[in-house]
Amino acid sequence: MWSPFSIKKGNGASPSWSKVLTLSTLAALAPLSEAQFPPSQAVGLKTVTSPSNPNIKISYREPNDVCTTAFREQKQYTGWVTVPGEYPTHLFFWFVGAREPTSALTMMLNGGPGASSMFGLFAENGPCQVVEKSANRLETAAREWGWDRASNMLFVDQPNQVGFSYDTPTNGSLDLTTGMSSPNMQLPEGLPPNLFLNGTFSSSNIQNTANTTQNAATAVYHLLQGLGSAFPKYVPDKNGPLGVNLFTESYGGHYGPVFADVWVKENDKLKKRAFPLSKRQDDAQSRSTKAGNLEIKLTSLGIMNGCIDDLVQGSRYVEMAVNNTYGIKLIDQATADAITAGFNAPETGCKDLILACRQAQAALDPLDQGADETVNQVCAYAALTCQQLLGSVLATGVNAYDIAHVGPDAFPDYHYLEYLNLRRVQEAIGSVINYTDVSPVVYQAFFQTGDRARGGLIGKLASLLQRGVRIGLVYGDRDYICNWMGGESVSLAVAEAVRDIDPKSPYPTQFAQAGYAPIQVNGREAGAVRQFGNLSFSRIYQAGHYVPAYQPETAFRVFERVISGQAVSNGARVNLGEYATQGPKKADKQLTPPNEVVAKCFLRNLGATCTQEQVEAILQGQGVVINGVWYKEQKDWKLVTARSETAVAEGSKMKRSFFG
Ligand SMILES: *[C@@H]1O[C@H](CO)[C@@H](O)[C@H](O)[C@H]1NC(C)=O
Ligand SMILES: *[C@@H]1O[C@H](CO)[C@@H](O)[C@H](O)[C@H]1NC(C)=O
Ligand SMILES: *[C@@H]1O[C@H](CO)[C@@H](O)[C@H](O)[C@H]1NC(C)=O
Ligand SMILES: *[C@@H]1O[C@H](CO)[C@@H](O)[C@H](O)[C@H]1NC(C)=O
Ligand SMILES: *[C@@H]1O[C@H](CO)[C@@H](O)[C@H](O)[C@H]1NC(C)=O
Ligand SMILES: *[C@@H]1O[C@H](CO)[C@@H](O)[C@H](O)[C@H]1NC(C)=O
Repeated sequence: MWSPFSIKKGNGASPSWSKVLTLSTLAALAPLSEAQFPPSQAVGLKTVTSPSNPNIKISYREPNDVCTTAFREQKQYTGWVTVPGEYPTHLFFWFVGAREPTSALTMMLNGGPGASSMFGLFAENGPCQVVEKSANRLETAAREWGWDRASNMLFVDQPNQVGFSYDTPTNGSLDLTTGMSSPNMQLPEGLPPNLFLNGTFSSSNIQNTANTTQNAATAVYHLLQGLGSAFPKYVPDKNGPLGVNLFTESYGGHYGPVFADVWVKENDKLKKRAFPLSKRQDDAQSRSTKAGNLEIKLTSLGIMNGCIDDLVQGSRYVEMAVNNTYGIKLIDQATADAITAGFNAPETGCKDLILACRQAQAALDPLDQGADETVNQVCAYAALTCQQLLGSVLATGVNAYDIAHVGPDAFPDYHYLEYLNLRRVQEAIGSVINYTDVSPVVYQAFFQTGDRARGGLIGKLASLLQRGVRIGLVYGDRDYICNWMGGESVSLAVAEAVRDIDPKSPYPTQFAQAGYAPIQVNGREAGAVRQFGNLSFSRIYQAGHYVPAYQPETAFRVFERVISGQAVSNGARVNLGEYATQGPKKADKQLTPPNEVVAKCFLRNLGATCTQEQVEAILQGQGVVINGVWYKEQKDWKLVTARSETAVAEGSKMKRSFFG
């Protein structure tokens, strides 16, 4: 774990004893024992069999009044795609139709590994956000810059056991001081009851989830096939200009290239076997092949602050720590030199360990199934060594997701954690389990195989580019953990790698020669972009790890320009066969860090958002909890009503997952 627990001084006043309120105790309308658990039977789900594969079942409903959209007519579906395999897999999706009819469809995946995409939906780029209505009421409001402005949106919780995805519903408890769930439901001595909550979870069986990105890809491909054939109207015509887009974040730097590669390859297999197209091309079922699978045209792959390849990104962490564009020195030069030496040390250094992992991977587990003991060990060791080395920079308590911030932080707003565990929300979406924001089991499963250190992703990106898929790499420039400097190195490495596929490709030379142009948004210079043809790399100014949360309008514009094939710089319609940006070779604009903001202390994210003093007070049962946030006294809570988007955008970072 990278996140050091940092101490922030409180104001010293001694908090008064008061009643500890939590939503679960207030909402005691149902008998107490049941009120602590989600519905044991899903409410209102329709189940259909996927026309593309009789083994895939889709159970779904229209959730009523739990995610307010800009327009009432926007269709929403929530549900689970049940995928065949060695263990039960029910992958959760939340679909929201675009504000205005469009055939564009975008799948959004958050990272982790083990992080839920409900974070994306409710805290980043989804159609709605959670707002406080009163001291005991959370609701949602439409998000101004939701990506549903330009595309139908599909948020997917994966792999199995993340978010609302589950294997076998299992009763147990969640200890908010550790974030771990367990079958033990008896309140441990000394723990206040509001830190130890009953609920229904996945099994926590580490065998019942994917343990490599490659293994995770299969279930998501099935999900897309199942949904596409059940809701053909939302799958773009493969001959039309808009196709399916995949946008990922953070550890999604692994998911994106691998999943996209699987979609494209499966699609090629289908095309080889294809039979003549029906004339009714808007009917997805007429586009399916004999095998029943749909052709899915991947148009764009977007990766936001992605950790894609530590071999390529690794050397730039030190540079980010000492030579960033905010004049913030995270470490002194001697420490920087020591880390660089540690990275490059022959055999024992991060770099050589990653190379050893990849050698073993190529020889013994080329399909990345995670079943070879040697490869798992070598790769897990490499991943751990690199993580410890590069993470040592954060020992001073600086925030990994926003270098402008030290100590606890509560950005983006975490009210969604409380909201998604409300019974009325669970009923509305049809869930029989509680919400798991980050699954420690999934993190551990990926950790054991050293998935993070495994390679091949740069080559996959190059091959996607060569096939005409647009690739948009988008990086907030205050993030450390998957920082923009490393992202820039990835962009150059991808362009260069196209040479191995096609020696005559213009990408290696033309991309590297393209200069950085300003990203223009609403009359402002919101970042800098290097683009040649279908490849773009954007540095987004004043954004931490979660770009759409920090810079909602800019993130949306970049998204819109990438998926519609425009110049990322200014949205101009250009010929992507030859378009190149012009400008300086370095994106070195210097900026001033924002002011610190006082964090709210969210009970469901104690470690990242509360000071040690606050944690101690909570452990002693002091203070009040209002809508999931701890306050010393009732009067410290104020209702923030007016357009809370701006309040959200002004904050700074958060610590949500173990790594990215
Ligand atoms: C699970 O959901 C129920 C509502 O159905 C809630 O009362 C309970 O606190 C939740 N438990 C956890 C661990 O979030
Ligand atoms: C969890 O416990 C509740 C209350 O006892 C019960 O109604 C429910 O069926 C249980 N769910 C599971 C999955 O065991
Ligand atoms: C959780 O459920 C168990 C078993 O039903 C019960 O004994 C315990 O009191 C519950 N915990 C709380 C905090 O209510
Ligand atoms: C930081 O910048 C200085 C001056 O340009 C340079 O000498 C130094 O090597 C850089 N350090 C890193 C780690 O990039
Ligand atoms: C990873 O998952 C694969 C496929 O389910 C399995 O064969 C393998 O044993 C797993 N690896 C570990 C370390 O559990
Ligand atoms: C970008 O992709 C389109 C097809 O999607 C293709 O026509 C164009 O030539 C590509 N650009 C380059 C530079 O390869």
